[in-house]
Amino acid sequence: MVHSRIAGTGSYLPHKVITNADLEKLVDTSDEWIASRTGIRERRMAATGETTGDLAFEAAQRALAAAGVQAGELDLIVLGTTTPDLIFPATACLLQHRLGANGCAAFDVNAACSGFMYALAVADQFIRSGSVRKALVVGAETLTRMLDYGDRSTCVLFGDGAGAVVLEASDQPGIITTRLHADGGYKHLLYNPVGVSAGFQLDQPNAGVRVMMTGNEVFKVAVKTLDRMVGETLEAAGMHESDIDWLIPHQANLRIIEATARRLKLPMERVIVTVDRHGNTSSGSVPLALDEAVRSGKVQRGQTLLLEAFGGGFTWASALLRY
Ligand code: ACO
Repeated sequence: MVHSRIAGTGSYLPHKVITNADLEKLVDTSDEWIASRTGIRERRMAATGETTGDLAFEAAQRALAAAGVQAGELDLIVLGTTTPDLIFPATACLLQHRLGANGCAAFDVNAACSGFMYALAVADQFIRSGSVRKALVVGAETLTRMLDYGDRSTCVLFGDGAGAVVLEASDQPGIITTRLHADGGYKHLLYNPVGVSAGFQLDQPNAGVRVMMTGNEVFKVAVKTLDRMVGETLEAAGMHESDIDWLIPHQANLRIIEATARRLKLPMERVIVTVDRHGNTSSGSVPLALDEAVRSGKVQRGQTLLLEAFGGGFTWASALLRY
């Protein structure tokens, strides 16, 4: 049986740091409020002209180097993003060309903050089916481009960044199971009101583009849903809480992360936390945290990792894997 395994990871953060003190100058907020409610202390912002594709390119190059894989060997590129460079072509196609991987399949996945997890599950299925041997999976975002820096309830939460993994076919897992879910009935709690066929004004294309979120309602559903999903994931794999070495969660809010860790009976020392320095980078969040954990030496080969995310849609997804 064919499995997929992570052969290498990479990530990239733009240079500009926005601290909570910087945001105190823009909106009626405080470092104390942001840190105590979310765990966030700072986040990154892409430079003028720096795009999601640019961040993805840097992260992808690092993942390919870590895996010892040449771009030309790739059979598939799947990129999770809600902030593509262009409406079309897909950012995955722009990335493919810059990497020199022309010819392989390349497409974007939009599942908001679960984008990377969806992309990972899709690539895993292609490898399991035997049609792909090597895949590049990316989560990349420039969410600060669509934030309203007059709205304190959203502008303090998000940041820019990208992470990537190279998946390879293997006779050993690798990815043990992935779970994907969505419920479009929650659209009203978290959305951007402007698309191409709704809300778009040709003479003012940026008008109305912003993150709309009823944060406290999202919070409650996220905690309950993640609780349910980690149970479902363990059951699908026939594993127990005690089998997990590391939880690598979506980095939206430290209090949500702590609730999931409690559900798994995992001490916070076994949870990768980057939300304090990255904020919520949406699709970038899980692969950024994974790459940081790998490069710091925390995550070791052979360990069991539980990755999960929750975001707009609502979407939620997980992956249980042996690194
Ligand atoms: N600074 C100071 N006060 C603030 C700020 C701020 N930045 N933002 C909101 N407040 C105020 C509110 O106005 C409110 O004031 P009131 O009591 O006078 O009405 C008060 O703080 C409490 O507001 P809540 O929204 O109830 O605060 P809560 O503790 O829920 O924290 C937060 C808000 C951080 C947004 C939290 O609810 C959260 O993290 N939600 C989940 C976000 C998430 O996971 N999103 C999914 C992924 S995102 C994606 O997919 C794109």
